[in-house]
Amino acid sequence: MPNQTTKLRAAVVGLGWPGMQHLKGYTADPRSEVIAVCDLDETQVEKVATEHKIPNTYTNHLEMLENKDIDAVSVCLPNFLHAPISIDALNAGKHVLCEKPPARSAQEAKAMADAATENGKTLMYALVQRFDGSSQKVKRLVTDGELGDIYFGKAAYVRRRGIPIGREGWFVDRDRSGGGALIDIGVHALDCIWWLMNSPRPVEVMGASYSHFGHLVPDDVKYDVDDGTFAQIRFENGATIILETTWALNLPGDNYIKIAGTKAGVSLNPFTLYTEANGKEVDKPLDAPSINGFDEEVKHFVECIVEGKEPISSAEQGIMLMQMLDGIYESAEKGQSVSIADLSATKG
Ligand SMILES: NC(=O)c1ccc[n+]([C@@H]2O[C@H](COP(=O)([O-])OP(=O)(O)OC[C@H]3O[C@@H](n4cnc5c(N)ncnc54)[C@H](O)[C@@H]3O)[C@@H](O)[C@H]2O)c1
Repeated sequence: MPNQTTKLRAAVVGLGWPGMQHLKGYTADPRSEVIAVCDLDETQVEKVATEHKIPNTYTNHLEMLENKDIDAVSVCLPNFLHAPISIDALNAGKHVLCEKPPARSAQEAKAMADAATENGKTLMYALVQRFDGSSQKVKRLVTDGELGDIYFGKAAYVRRRGIPIGREGWFVDRDRSGGGALIDIGVHALDCIWWLMNSPRPVEVMGASYSHFGHLVPDDVKYDVDDGTFAQIRFENGATIILETTWALNLPGDNYIKIAGTKAGVSLNPFTLYTEANGKEVDKPLDAPSINGFDEEVKHFVECIVEGKEPISSAEQGIMLMQMLDGIYESAEKGQSVSIADLSATKG
């Protein structure tokens, strides 16, 4: 644990694009520094270490975790490694910032939360959309009661064409990814809108998933995931979210979050507040500072450790988010709506 004179000493495991955003985030915050990097790809490890003057390099995360100087680890690895490597890091006494999605399933996210509790360490999920300037601004409007009671949300993360494959095709192999468009990009939109609506407890979901674009990936790549998922989620407080997400669709790409309350509604794209005055519709354009979501996310993680605070994208929330995704996939498979059981983390 850093004190006032020492910096939080972080390590990044997985040096793809998201790993590099985490690295830059720690470097940008004067309270933290990156002292170790790890990736299976030795060339990438050496390149990153040289460019960023990082003293410790590894190609094996277990060797990295033996380094007692490391306080915290960013897990920026393929989805199937989120749970095992985060748990290894927590058991080694490190705090963990894990990339999205939290895991492949709620059961895995629960095991991660339990490991954090047992070891008394912070587990935060890197759900970057919460940290954008516009999301932060809307969250303030919600907290200040400007929207009234929020009862409806609609979110889309729709690509017309954009199927990721990743190292050795893990993105499109359900065993390693946990799913396709929904767990990869739908998770961003769903998490952000759910958080803006004050994270109500989900009780029932109805989902439909499709896989029609396998011809867009090379023939030798296993492809057994959804490239389009559409869902409705009902919450304990009566609120509803409708979600659309695709990696490929024969319609234009789309990206929005809209939430409606009893007093006003907000759209993030176009960034507008929808309200009324004297019985007439009033549209108020909103603005927000242009900030780097990754820098803000890492800053929040560092702050939570240094100040002993609970992260806004907590281990507990990771479980609930995964329950929604699990429920949508289960509903799609069964062809009927499904209930969501309570699976909250054990608290120490
Ligand atoms: N927040 C975002 O906007 C965002 C964007 C892209 C990806 N992601 C998430 O980040 C994670 C990584 O995605 P990616 O696109 O970088 O994947 P990737 O396939 O490019 O892999 C990332 C890196 O991990 C390394 N790696 C794999 N197994 C390893 C191991 N056992 N030990 C050490 N290194 C290992 C790979 O060599 C690679 O350099 C995924 O969970 C993905 O969902 C988040």
